Amino acid sequence: MNKLRMGMVGGGPNAFIGAIHRAAAALDGEIELCCGAFSRDAQQSRVFGESLGLAPDRVYDDYQSLFEKEANLPVEKRMQFVSIVTPNNMHYPIADAALTSGFNVLCDKPATLTLDECQALARRTEQTNLVFGLTHTYTGYAMVKEARQRIMNGELGTIRKVITEYHQGWLAAQVFDGNNKQAAWRLDPAQAGQSCCMGDIGVHAANLAEYVTGLRISAVLADLGRVEPGRVLDDDGTVLLRFEGETRGVLLASQISLGEENCLRIRAYGDSGSLEWHQEEPNTLLLKRGDQPTQILRAGHSYLSAPAQAVARTPPGHPEGYIEAFANIYRDFACMVSQQQGKGVDTTNPEHSPERQQISDLPGIAEALRGMAFIEQVVASDAAGCQWRSIEC
Ligand SMILES: NC(=O)c1ccc[n+]([C@@H]2O[C@H](COP(=O)([O-])OP(=O)(O)OC[C@H]3O[C@@H](n4cnc5c(N)ncnc54)[C@H](O)[C@@H]3O)[C@@H](O)[C@H]2O)c1
Repeated sequence: MNKLRMGMVGGGPNAFIGAIHRAAAALDGEIELCCGAFSRDAQQSRVFGESLGLAPDRVYDDYQSLFEKEANLPVEKRMQFVSIVTPNNMHYPIADAALTSGFNVLCDKPATLTLDECQALARRTEQTNLVFGLTHTYTGYAMVKEARQRIMNGELGTIRKVITEYHQGWLAAQVFDGNNKQAAWRLDPAQAGQSCCMGDIGVHAANLAEYVTGLRISAVLADLGRVEPGRVLDDDGTVLLRFEGETRGVLLASQISLGEENCLRIRAYGDSGSLEWHQEEPNTLLLKRGDQPTQILRAGHSYLSAPAQAVARTPPGHPEGYIEAFANIYRDFACMVSQQQGKGVDTTNPEHSPERQQISDLPGIAEALRGMAFIEQVVASDAAGCQWRSIEC
């Protein structure tokens, strides 16, 4: 089977998430990085691309040359999709240019800088009939898929309350390094958008709540903090949530909670049971009932649902984590691109079996729109003095 050819924009020297994407894309041996424009500095892009072992003529000075030159290569050589791993302000222009040039897109979150941009991106995706995927990483974990499955199967009954939290401490003054390049753009509205904390991690917590419960957030009431002096954008916040139906919830997100690393956690309470999942212990899911001891479910076991079993690569007790969760998204995306290109997929490969295709649930343009609407309405609610705002999309 030919590998799917991937290009990358961003993810250059000392970048954070680009290296994770490359490792995840390579994990299952189905995707090959063949080209890229890795930095806004052309010289750095060239040196870096060559350090990855790419042919010098496939390392480009900027994303415009990448798309133009790749589109002119023979079809069997040119890249088949691009991963976008730049700061937020560049997602829309790069994604739009990629789609317009005929390339499928896998973009990191938040999808764009504004909801308007995201709506334009949705129109472009529809016009071009290409695949747009969004790396909401946490939906790729086996036990998150199990949690979703248990709720979809009705095991917890009606979901009445959801608490979704993402706490970090790295932007608190005590540990904050003013020279941190990842922090510099996240705190700059021109590059990050209207929000730092909610745009960076709150949006993951919101997506996780919707993914796990299958319920859409219909309204938000937000109280955002700019806790460290001099900050224009939020570094902490609390959001009351209303979901469709009667379900209520709370979203907590913070980047000034000293001592916290990537403390993403979700608890969902139904009328016949509850569940709890924690990103820092990702291979465990707790199931709780009012009249029984807590059940500890673990990744890799045959008692799990088909979607959770389908993404396990190792036997129980060998920990899988962040890179594997990312790789699950890459695998689903690769499967969709192969199908979209009319090549079909190799169904003798268990990873591409019809069963597995059915359970693929890649975040796409709908999740992109909902994420951007969430960020905009949270910021608007806070600016209006903590008023309820509807999320309509
Ligand atoms: N899904 C996740 O779990 C997750 C985690 C971290 C970051 N992210 C997202 O990934 C994106 C990147 O974040 P990061 O922390 O890796 O940032 P970073 O600052 O570490 O890396 C950004 C890279 O993009 C390059 N770049 C900037 N503009 C460019 C351009 N015009 N052309 C080519 N390259 C360009 C920079 O040179 C740098 O190499 C952000 O949108 C962020 O929200 C997602």
